Amino acid sequence: MKNKKNIEFDKLLSRKAPAFRARAELPRAKYDFAIAYPDPQSLPLNDLLDSLSQGLLEEGADLAWYPDVQGYQPLREYVANKLRTERRMQVTAEQVVLGDGSSQHISMIIDMFIDPGDIAITEDFFYSGTLTTLKTAGADIRGVKCDNSGMLPDVLERTIADLVAQKKRPKLIYTIPTFQNPQGWTMSLERRKALVDIASFYEIPIFEDDCYVDLRYEGENVPAIHSLDPTGQVMYVASFSKIIAPGLRMGYFVGPEEIIGRLRMLRKTGGSGVNQFTALAVHRYAISGLDCHVNTINKIQRTRRDAMLAALGETFDPSASWSTPEGGLYLWLKMPKSVDLSSISQEVLSAGVGYQPGTMFSPDGTTGKNYARLCFGYNPADEIGEGIEILANLFTKAGLF
Ligand SMILES: Cc1ncc(COP(=O)(O)O)c(C=O)c1O
Repeated sequence: MKNKKNIEFDKLLSRKAPAFRARAELPRAKYDFAIAYPDPQSLPLNDLLDSLSQGLLEEGADLAWYPDVQGYQPLREYVANKLRTERRMQVTAEQVVLGDGSSQHISMIIDMFIDPGDIAITEDFFYSGTLTTLKTAGADIRGVKCDNSGMLPDVLERTIADLVAQKKRPKLIYTIPTFQNPQGWTMSLERRKALVDIASFYEIPIFEDDCYVDLRYEGENVPAIHSLDPTGQVMYVASFSKIIAPGLRMGYFVGPEEIIGRLRMLRKTGGSGVNQFTALAVHRYAISGLDCHVNTINKIQRTRRDAMLAALGETFDPSASWSTPEGGLYLWLKMPKSVDLSSISQEVLSAGVGYQPGTMFSPDGTTGKNYARLCFGYNPADEIGEGIEILANLFTKAGLF
């Protein structure tokens, strides 16, 4: 046998191969305001077990086949009906594609639209998962300034008009209009209409990420952007992650046939369909206990949101301010301009409190030092109070107020 040598994989990999990432355990704080975990105690495990066994007894033998490339038809029917009744979207099951959470669709759509250097329009601070995917695809990300009702239409229009004047047509506008991650606001109906008008005038597709829409604790439901677009060009993604559990990896996409057809191709080549085992359980659960479960978790989350708001009001200096979201899982904390919450976050973590600094959500990775996202989904209300008090004391000691 010839001398054995190690293969140098990096010399063989394609240009599309992703960068290497070492396995790393994320440090978890006792008071974990960093990541949006649901409350582990409130997961409907027994009901899911019943739903899975019912699904398997009724249709388990179908697991012998490769599943539908768009995903289990009855679950797509359920999703289409939910979107018609709750989001006013004119959708049939044929326009729904299931996938591994919403992340998979976000990644597929970004891959489909973005070549290195292509422009994506986003909110000024937005979900770090999509931010990383856009950066990995080499997107030129243009964040548009937002206030408490979403992107400022005049800034959006000026940004696009300037780009178009330079012959740089943006490829898509990505938005999280409801309980925005990380800023917490919900885009008003007027802003949604303005966004549709601007996008259709410049012929730029909107990619609407409605991941948190079911977690409403107060206020009025605002129709989906998708429902306001007469041309049917808006792409829409949402998920069962935040209303059942992220570990299920089950989400859904709605879009024009031209895009769905390409997703079918991707699903065919990249996995031969959508996980039918999970879909059987999610479907049986969705038609029996999901609405009731969402009511229950929304009551829990509302208490936690209120506990965080109250604790901030009691312990934080008036120089700080924060959003009051009507739903979702996050508050957006704003400290005085000179404060750098990214440099102190490790020290705070050692003291048992986790948060994500604003820089994690900005396209340039440096804007937003004086902001932080505080998630209220994981710790019970009394612990939230303790954690916020520790945070306030640490900030005072560090002279941040
Ligand atoms: C705005 C937004 N979109 C998408 C996702 C991805 O969720 P999943 O892939 O679990 O559906 C998240 C997760 O936190 C999110 O905050």
